[in-house]
Amino acid sequence: MRKKLAVIGAGAVGTSVAHWALVKAVAEEVVLVDIVEGLAQGKALDLAQSAPIYGFSGKIIGTQEWEALKDAQVVILTAGRPRKPGMSRDDLLKVNLEIVRSCVEEVKKYSPEACLIVITNPIDAMVYTAFRVSGFPKQRVIGMAGVLDSARYRYFLAEALGVSPKDVQALVMGIHGDHMLPLVRLANVAGVPVTELLPPEKIDEIVKRTQQGGAEIVSYLKTGSAFTTPGLAAVEMAEAILRDTKRVLTCSVWLEGEFGIEGVFLGVPVVLGQNGVEKILEFELTTEEREALNLSVEAVRAQIIKTGL
Ligand code: LAC
Repeated sequence: MRKKLAVIGAGAVGTSVAHWALVKAVAEEVVLVDIVEGLAQGKALDLAQSAPIYGFSGKIIGTQEWEALKDAQVVILTAGRPRKPGMSRDDLLKVNLEIVRSCVEEVKKYSPEACLIVITNPIDAMVYTAFRVSGFPKQRVIGMAGVLDSARYRYFLAEALGVSPKDVQALVMGIHGDHMLPLVRLANVAGVPVTELLPPEKIDEIVKRTQQGGAEIVSYLKTGSAFTTPGLAAVEMAEAILRDTKRVLTCSVWLEGEFGIEGVFLGVPVVLGQNGVEKILEFELTTEEREALNLSVEAVRAQIIKTGL
């Protein structure tokens, strides 16, 4: 089947998604949809014109027409307001809730069989909103956050260790917010535990920097938030689904008792394939980790209540 990826929202993150999807050739067709007149068309045309230089052959179309979502196997939702300095992701909840709701109605109408990846913040509440509004099965509604947060954690560890970021494996679970849980016990460099390589104070500093990773970038940019790595993280997830590669990626998914948690979307390691979330990789947490994860659960529950859904 012809692979088609639809991206909703032609802002910085949506454009980054489309860009990475084209250069990584994850789909034959990428459509970029935005309700702002001309925005998606302009961004798409600019991206298309990079094809001869870079050498990709995928098609990119920008449009205001929701009908363009038809036949997409994966839809990535990026529409929404970004953060300004001093704002928490929660501050965006009310305004982005309505945006997500209206976009998901269109996804439901035009691509009812698609896997829906949500990036709009606050991610864990917005993916919950998308789940409720779409009525899609839990396997096909997935929040992007763990891939991004884990990438930040891996990068900071690699930087401290002076090793290739590629060789650092580490996982950030929980909410995409201040209570996210970068797991220290499992972080390793080509199998060697980082706890053997870095002093505890340094690891602690990296954990805190990871938890504030998004805010650090917002504080520099002032008018928006990170977009390059969030876009690539979502494409990594879309690629696993479109190519059915069974990648193990940390994603915000609907939990029904896994890790002793139920009734929330939260970042946990999952297997992604053509059916979306094919498996949740559950493992034993220490008492300390479980307590830390419970803070995420409480924070997401508070967000969910605010959605009123
Ligand atoms: C960040 C945004 C995507 O963490 O929440 O950069």
